[in-house]
Amino acid sequence: MKLFVTGGAGYIGSHAVKAFGRAGHDIVVYDNLSTGHEGAVLYGKLVRGDLSDVEFLLKTLDKFRPDAVIHFAASIQVEESVRKPLLYYRNNVVNAVNLLEAMLKTGVRYLIYSSTAAVYGMPKKIPVNETAAINPINPYGASKAAVEQILSDTTKTTDLRYNSLRYFNVAGADTDGQLGQAYADATHLVTRAMKTALGLTSKLAIYGTDYQTPDGTCIRDYIHVNDLVDAHIKALNHLMKTNESNVLNCGYGHGFSVREVVNVAKKVTGIDFPVAETGRRAGDAPVLVADSKKLKNITGWKPQHDDLEFILKTAWEWEKKLHSQDIFKEKK
Ligand code: UFG
Repeated sequence: MKLFVTGGAGYIGSHAVKAFGRAGHDIVVYDNLSTGHEGAVLYGKLVRGDLSDVEFLLKTLDKFRPDAVIHFAASIQVEESVRKPLLYYRNNVVNAVNLLEAMLKTGVRYLIYSSTAAVYGMPKKIPVNETAAINPINPYGASKAAVEQILSDTTKTTDLRYNSLRYFNVAGADTDGQLGQAYADATHLVTRAMKTALGLTSKLAIYGTDYQTPDGTCIRDYIHVNDLVDAHIKALNHLMKTNESNVLNCGYGHGFSVREVVNVAKKVTGIDFPVAETGRRAGDAPVLVADSKKLKNITGWKPQHDDLEFILKTAWEWEKKLHSQDIFKEKK
């Protein structure tokens, strides 16, 4: 099958390209390399392009004529989205519209869309399922929710069919050690903990200890990146078999507090790195834990790495490799 993968040089996208590539699919990665790396694209062809470049996007899609698009490219930081909302609406909403228009013009019918738990805001019931109210509390979540609405509307009058995967907290690295998160300015808890353990930052901040949770810190559902990628494979197969659009939560169904993650990170790395409790970070929800029964039931997805210690071990091995070897240091 022919797959067009936006953001395929990024963290999750590169893991997905590897999995789809190994399964024998023909892949074109479309990425502007703003946060991704050429060296992370292990399969297929990398086209350096921006989703705002409507003409080039259309030309690339028209030439390749894929069976499906997997759309990872986006801005993804909650706190940044609060400071720069227009950047998020442009990159995540306007660019998604560009992609959808190009898909419709070139007759591409299937889309796997990267959505987020952030669309729920502060869900009333935990674990949260897909029928919960959409109530984002930051522009990042609002931008993803807007695209979900656009997708839903678009299916009503076109042949387009999609699965929107609502990711919870994606963490860890490729179990073969070839790939992992490699952002210049990592903001995610797990990556930051690993960098602090390596001594690359002086201390790890814990953002907020006064939330209504058992230990006062935020609770998240951490899902290993390889399990998330497998959800994409299963979802795409199901979508193309049934022609049915769906929205699917991707998580394990249990959460860990920031303090719990920090403790496991110290255990896994064997380093008692410095931690500083600071104030809340803008835009954070207190608790986000997935009910992923729908994903399991309709696609047959079975997670393989539902183990926080294992997730952090893969992140640790990757982080050590990233900083000891000259990988992903290509000129931009
Ligand atoms: N945190 C810290 N210190 C840090 C970094 C994070 O205490 O240095 C805290 C955050 O405040 C939050 C938790 O750790 O409470 C997790 O934060 P991350 O930045 O790792 O992840 P987010 O929960 O903000 O966001 C991630 C994805 C989103 C997704 C969301 C859904 O980036 O795309 O999970 O749960 F929407």
